[in-house]
Amino acid sequence: MSTKKERILIIGAGGQIGVELTLALRKIYGKENVIASDLKDENYLLTGTGPFMHIDAMNKSGLQQTVQKEKITQIYLLAAVLSAVGEKNPLMAWNINMQTLLNVLEIAREEKLTKIYWPSSIAVFGPTSPKQNCPQQTIVEPTTVYGISKYAGESWCEYYHEKYGVDVRSMRYPGLISYKSAPGGGTTDYAIDIFHQALKTKSYDCFLNEDTYLPMMYMDDGIRATIELMEAPATKIKNHRSYNLAAMSFSPKEIAAEIQKHIPDFAINYNPDFRQAIAESWPQSIDDKEARADWDWKPAFDLARMTEDMLNNVKVEK
Ligand SMILES: NC(=O)c1ccc[n+]([C@@H]2O[C@H](COP(=O)([O-])OP(=O)(O)OC[C@H]3O[C@@H](n4cnc5c(N)ncnc54)[C@H](O)[C@@H]3O)[C@@H](O)[C@H]2O)c1
Repeated sequence: MSTKKERILIIGAGGQIGVELTLALRKIYGKENVIASDLKDENYLLTGTGPFMHIDAMNKSGLQQTVQKEKITQIYLLAAVLSAVGEKNPLMAWNINMQTLLNVLEIAREEKLTKIYWPSSIAVFGPTSPKQNCPQQTIVEPTTVYGISKYAGESWCEYYHEKYGVDVRSMRYPGLISYKSAPGGGTTDYAIDIFHQALKTKSYDCFLNEDTYLPMMYMDDGIRATIELMEAPATKIKNHRSYNLAAMSFSPKEIAAEIQKHIPDFAINYNPDFRQAIAESWPQSIDDKEARADWDWKPAFDLARMTEDMLNNVKVEK
């Protein structure tokens, strides 16, 4: 861990990843040094755990004033429009995903911040990328506005690192599965909804076909990966665009079979919608050997362990 006193601002702290990352960073840096912020009101899961502010990351001068006033040294930028929502309003998704990143990169340069974190996604890959064990460097031709914005964002991160020395770090998350905060409108959200419905009604209507394999990761691994990347000495970070990251790959049929080991009468139906085409444009599995080699990444959760933990922790709404 860094010995310098860090002051961390998390933008988009009320979202699926932001809530858990905020709680984890508060344990490391102290609650008063980790400021949660969001466009929305404070997520109830963060109430009483540390400072919260309303921030619109589209407003650069407002954001910069907060960074100066709060003596912020690091920013985690999690605000974004995700894949499924983005396809419904492409220009809005492009605008928000690019402008928030450019605002944060500019502030990092001007205020000489020590580190920036900005996640990319496996959505950067497209139909022409390899489907199996998709490598770090390969053909990258995304077909969703979300993927296009993430790939452009990776180039901006590398540009700010090369040109201005900004220490911005990034990884391409797979679909993240969690039980605390609700997912924000991605194509992999089915792998969360399925647990809620399995516990509530013992049946699930899936918006993807049974054999649609996608790269996935349990949130515990995702949060640990994020913190390990950010804590790694700068000399270990050799990729200044965004690291491939992987843990498991499964299809709706496979996760349903795993749930049936615990709930034998659970049933699944398949009614694919527009998200099927998004899922089919992405790789089925990812090669993350550079993350493993450079900063010792290793996942802990496979499908069986993740399923058990989800079934034990998902709270069923009455
Ligand atoms: N969840 C996943 O499976 C996944 C996978 C790959 C990449 N990612 C990336 O990780 C990041 C976080 O994802 P998430 O799933 O937590 O998203 P989310 O949609 O759950 O949360 C995003 C948060 O950002 C906030 N926000 C939106 N616009 C804002 C603005 N202008 N200013 C301030 N806050 C704003 C929203 O209110 C929301 O609380 C995103 O960059 C996303 O692309 C997520």
